Amino acid sequence: MCGIIGYIGNKPANEIIFEGLTRLEYRGYDSAGIAVLDDGKIHVKKDIGKLHQLKDLLLTNFGSTSSQGIGHTRWATHGRPSGFNAHPHGDSRGTLMVAHNGIIENYMKLKNRLVQAGFIFSSQTDSEVLAHLIAYHYHNNLEEAVLAALKEVEGAYAIAVIHRNHPDRLVCARKESPLILGLSKDENFIASDVTAILQHTRNVIYLDNYEMATVKREGVEVYDFSGSRIEKKIKQVDWNPIAAEKGGFPHFMLKEIFEQPQVIRNTIGGRTSEEEGKIYLTELGLSGPDIFKTQRIVIIGCGTAFYAGCVGKYLIEKLVRIPVECDLASEFRYRDPLVDSNTLVVAISQSGETADTLAAVREARKKGAKVLGVVNAKESSLTRDVDGLVYIHAGPEIGVASTKAYIAMLTALTLLALLLGKIRGVLTPEFVTDQIRELKRLPQEIEKILAEPDQIKALAKKFMNAKNFLFLGRGINFPTAMEGALKLKEISYIHAEAYAAGEMKHGPIALIDKDMPVFVVATNSATYEKLISNIQEVNARSGTVIALCSEGDKEIYDHAHQMITVPNVSEILSPIINVIPLQLYAYYVADLKGLNVDQPRNLAKSVTVE
Ligand code: F6R
Repeated sequence: MCGIIGYIGNKPANEIIFEGLTRLEYRGYDSAGIAVLDDGKIHVKKDIGKLHQLKDLLLTNFGSTSSQGIGHTRWATHGRPSGFNAHPHGDSRGTLMVAHNGIIENYMKLKNRLVQAGFIFSSQTDSEVLAHLIAYHYHNNLEEAVLAALKEVEGAYAIAVIHRNHPDRLVCARKESPLILGLSKDENFIASDVTAILQHTRNVIYLDNYEMATVKREGVEVYDFSGSRIEKKIKQVDWNPIAAEKGGFPHFMLKEIFEQPQVIRNTIGGRTSEEEGKIYLTELGLSGPDIFKTQRIVIIGCGTAFYAGCVGKYLIEKLVRIPVECDLASEFRYRDPLVDSNTLVVAISQSGETADTLAAVREARKKGAKVLGVVNAKESSLTRDVDGLVYIHAGPEIGVASTKAYIAMLTALTLLALLLGKIRGVLTPEFVTDQIRELKRLPQEIEKILAEPDQIKALAKKFMNAKNFLFLGRGINFPTAMEGALKLKEISYIHAEAYAAGEMKHGPIALIDKDMPVFVVATNSATYEKLISNIQEVNARSGTVIALCSEGDKEIYDHAHQMITVPNVSEILSPIINVIPLQLYAYYVADLKGLNVDQPRNLAKSVTVE
């Protein structure tokens, strides 16, 4: 995920910034850049690559010892990784530079207007629009120009700006992307992440949404977006640097679970038009005729990616009305699969390096199928072996057990299903508009679950010594049960099995006794009453039922022993919300058992062998 650092003081800015950027490396990036202000001139150096490769460019041969500048590490979203697309971005008159984290959703509209006004763009990024827009609004007051520009912008951002007419300041602002100010004697900092500045200061101000700051050598001033001054508390950070990389969370997995609202925003960001009921997936690589001639879709993946694909099957069949099969990549590759040029294969992978998935893709292409990659890692092997892409924009996932990538996969598959359904004339713009609205509501609904983790922790404590666990779900939430069971077994080493609830009576029911807790995903759905019958079957065998139910469900109280409630959302979007308590449950069990949550035994983050 992108990182920002800004410095103003009395030391060489590029050295401080370069060092700060190296502290942000753990977040992942594909390119980096630094811009400084020197005697009324801006010096900017940026390129694709890792910082150790860019050391000469950004450090040794930088060519300026200016003590004021901004830097950025970029994780590509709009526009491939390249020197042009790397940040900071400047306006066409060379007056200012901007580093940006987040996504500008209405950038196309703004860009078209600015191009007509004569601004020349040199990158494919959404971020560059900010540089030109601030320049457009600039009339000798940088803060006013930044505010005027941000008033026109829709989306999420943390920005840092330098301007050649203002050698005494950096200006920064945030909405939905984190940004902090670091305070020290005769020098001050801006950073997207406290890690970047911890070696210089532990005194920080956390900017809130819709806040802007002027950062000078001698001090900082914070304003709201109406331009009124705000007094902010200075906080002391007492993390060690490793804890700081984890944003204060004890494990990457927990941090990544808590990042999920933002991940959904990033996956959706800039890809929807609510007004017009439109979805834009610009790297899809499929023409209208390709989409029309598709008679069948086969989704492939491994592990969590496979379960995301299973949700995708329900989504696409419902919204596009094309038959969909979901297969394990390791099975698909060896079964002489029946695919041809009328089949669209969708390969899902967080790492883009999973050997079975790559081999399955090669097999599909050999047989003439078009292949679409739903991928997280930019420039990974899978991205080079497909006809088109839907990046999921989850950012780097460090915990071995996948959490935020799963949520991003589900979000991306929902966008894909809506787009295909719209193009094939199955869905009306009004329906798509409603779904976009619902999708955009999910982050705040998930935040409600994340605000109260103690209930889930208490359940984890109660059942942490169970030797076996059963997870049941139906329809689009059967994969939720499978993902919940996978999370539990991966990190807590408890044997957990998932079944389609209706299938339980055909065998697994024999396992149920008082020592077998059964997690049932029983949120509002077309098969809710059937699930209640399945719960009764468990009760009749003295099993203990933990029900995941929708807010306001009174009926479930008569049947389940324990309840976890989640906010009400439509059934097709419910897998995105229902998995969150299951991830938290698995996390707390493993943590209470004192296990290595982020690196469970025998597992690797990326399985590059067969
Ligand atoms: C589960 C997990 C694995 C991966 C699987 C596929 O928590 O991490 O099951 O989902 O190895 O990996 P990718 O998505 O990188 O292809």
